[in-house]
Amino acid sequence: MDKLVIRGGNPLTGSLQVSGSKNTALPLMATALLTDGPVSISNVPDLRDISTFSRVIQVTGTSVDVIPEEHRVVIDASSFDRAEAPYELVKRMRASFYMLGALLARAGKARVSLPGGCAWGPRPVDLHLKGMKALGADIELDQGYVVAKAKGGRLQGGRVRMEPSSVGATINVALAAALARGESVIENAAIEPDVVHFCDMLSAMGAVLDGVGTRTLRIQGVDRLQPVSFANCPDRIELGTFMIAAAISGVPGQPVSILGGNPDHLGSSFLESFERTGAIVDIDSDVMKVTAPEEIRPVSVKTDIYPGFPTDLQAQWTILLSRASGNSKVLESVYPDRFKHIPELQRMGVNAIIVGDEVVIEGGKSIQGTNVMSTDLRASVSLVLAGMIADGETHVLRVYHLDRGYEKIEEKLFAAGIDITRVSYDEWADPA
Ligand code: EPZ
Repeated sequence: MDKLVIRGGNPLTGSLQVSGSKNTALPLMATALLTDGPVSISNVPDLRDISTFSRVIQVTGTSVDVIPEEHRVVIDASSFDRAEAPYELVKRMRASFYMLGALLARAGKARVSLPGGCAWGPRPVDLHLKGMKALGADIELDQGYVVAKAKGGRLQGGRVRMEPSSVGATINVALAAALARGESVIENAAIEPDVVHFCDMLSAMGAVLDGVGTRTLRIQGVDRLQPVSFANCPDRIELGTFMIAAAISGVPGQPVSILGGNPDHLGSSFLESFERTGAIVDIDSDVMKVTAPEEIRPVSVKTDIYPGFPTDLQAQWTILLSRASGNSKVLESVYPDRFKHIPELQRMGVNAIIVGDEVVIEGGKSIQGTNVMSTDLRASVSLVLAGMIADGETHVLRVYHLDRGYEKIEEKLFAAGIDITRVSYDEWADPA
């Protein structure tokens, strides 16, 4: 098992490269199942979740070539012969549940394991199932699997309202609707950039969509979609993570360049909050220069659906607030209890207290390096950020959580001046 060892205090200098978006690449890969013939997706990050999902798709008989050195995946479903997604793989990555919509669209049936929860709590899929039923699927639950069948062998257009707005359910139902007979309408659809970019790929394949990027998404089902070559978009959460890294570890007056991101994908709330801390942002096409302020101002935030403050940047923002000159708070409104990182940060001396669905942070205190445990993807990257500013050495354990969503993060940070190395360790060895 690997850990990251970080010696705090080094300034972040130079530049950081943003990789392709994990949360967009996954639905793009599922979309390839809706056609026969090679679908080539570029700017795919080299991540554990990508290889996991590749294996999920291969179970259906579909060929999947992952070419990490080219950041490319080529998927050809011509050899598709099995409408199933097994528990052993789905349990590793909940986005595998996109197979439900893709298999129903392609084969009119699906047997897909329920994804279960995650580190911070239940992750319901009721909206996904509600949407499939609205499109004429019979849904049964059998020993932890969703067994779905399109009445008459092909889905019919239908209407479904998402309460609350759901990224995954919007994508899953759109996958199912693309090849249904007739028009489907998704009300209160998610409008995150991941959803919009996925819709753009569907359209490039010949799908007929209207209202992309709005709360009412209309999909006119077609009989066939065409293979395409399509580029994935950059990772907005990695971009925001690197901006926060620059604000807490950059040298005032010396901008850090963050390359390859799309600032529009962060939403107005994050960008406004970020600049209110005093950090300076200069954007020139896909190069963003971030200059750390002499003093970070405390800026409280509330997470929300796009274009609100991304919940996936909530843990990272807490580290920024721990450096601020005053107290502030983070209100998590998307997922209750997405605070598994707080007890680990408290062990480092971060003065953060959870009060219901918000965490109150006392800024300006120095923090000490120690052993800390990753629990989920975004919590683990907040521990890396904490290690960058802590006194002494921080060992971030169980880095496999981090490897799900950040491509070679230690190499990127090391090249930008941070003292960080990846070390193998035996989790069960007795302490020396
Ligand atoms: C996606 O998860 C992302 N994952 C998450 O990122 C992200 O935090 C989340 O969107 C919100 O932006 C991927 O894209 C793979 P939701 P998703 O359905 O689709 C409730 C990361 O770190 N809900 O938009 O599962 C749900 O409980 C991950 O990269 C239902 O009630 O999120 C939540 O409160 C973590 N019923 C809210 O909707 C449902 O059927 C939003 O969840 C589905 C969701």
